Amino acid sequence: MRIITNIDDMKAYSREAKSQGKSIGLVPTMGFLHEGHMSLVRAAGEECDVVVLSIFVNPVQFGPGEDYEKYPRDMERDKKIAEETGVDHIFAPGVDEMYPDGYATYIEPEGHMASILCGKSRPGHFKGVDTVVAKLFNIVSPDKSYFGQKDAQQAVIIRQMVKDLNMNTEIRVMPIVREDDGLAASSRNAYLTGDERRQALGLYRSLKEAERLVSGGERSAGKLKKEMEKILLEGKDVRVDYIEAVDARTLKEVDLLKGETLIAVAAVVGNTKLIDNTVVRSGS
Ligand code: PAJ
Repeated sequence: MRIITNIDDMKAYSREAKSQGKSIGLVPTMGFLHEGHMSLVRAAGEECDVVVLSIFVNPVQFGPGEDYEKYPRDMERDKKIAEETGVDHIFAPGVDEMYPDGYATYIEPEGHMASILCGKSRPGHFKGVDTVVAKLFNIVSPDKSYFGQKDAQQAVIIRQMVKDLNMNTEIRVMPIVREDDGLAASSRNAYLTGDERRQALGLYRSLKEAERLVSGGERSAGKLKKEMEKILLEGKDVRVDYIEAVDARTLKEVDLLKGETLIAVAAVVGNTKLIDNTVVRSGS
């Protein structure tokens, strides 16, 4: 496994792989790897000849007062996990390599897709995500790129960018990987104390309750949100950021569930912002 920190080297490698007729799968991450990331690597390994894992904590997608500085980083640990999981190349550029002095160009998603859910409390976040992901696509030229359903809104916004800007990569979105007790795997779980971690399970439990209610025939988004909120607020250190029911494809808010609905939740547990979601299906 090679570790590439330089953009020109990465481009040269991709050119070489393509000239040999090899397909490239890209897994963009911010590192501090966990099972969620590795599920993407495995999917890429099954579908592509070469797997490139990018590790870059992207400053542009963090707002003021967010956790950019303290975001967990451990390249040695990540290298080991990546190698064991079958990554061919890690692309890990520095901030100056990605955003040198004079950097001036950004890609900003417009409309409700980027302003609801996480976009409401994190203005500019998806501008940062689209910008860095577009740069990674240009640098790596992947045939397929792998994202997690854990960040459902991010996946929808990236798909939209690829469509709108006629980008040449296929977006693959993989299911949420959970720990044994149901907590969605996340690099930010490392921030949680034991007690907070127990309280964080409220996110999963609230989604399970929503699933149960929907399979029992409940169609009212308001009713679901109310029941979910009750469960979340059982945690004394939990502050709800949002509980939303939106069309899974368009992310438009729904009052009555119909077709595929994304039920998404975000909450701050102690000082840690966590997100989770489920997609439920219901007839009209
Ligand atoms: P990061 O949070 O490191 O996540 C990298 C990828 O792993 C994302 O596509 C995310 O959805 C996926 N992922 C995270 N937790 C997961 C889980 N429990 N199950 C399945 N997939 C999971 O998302 C980012 O980084 C950044 O915004 C990035 C796209 C790299 C741009 O900077």
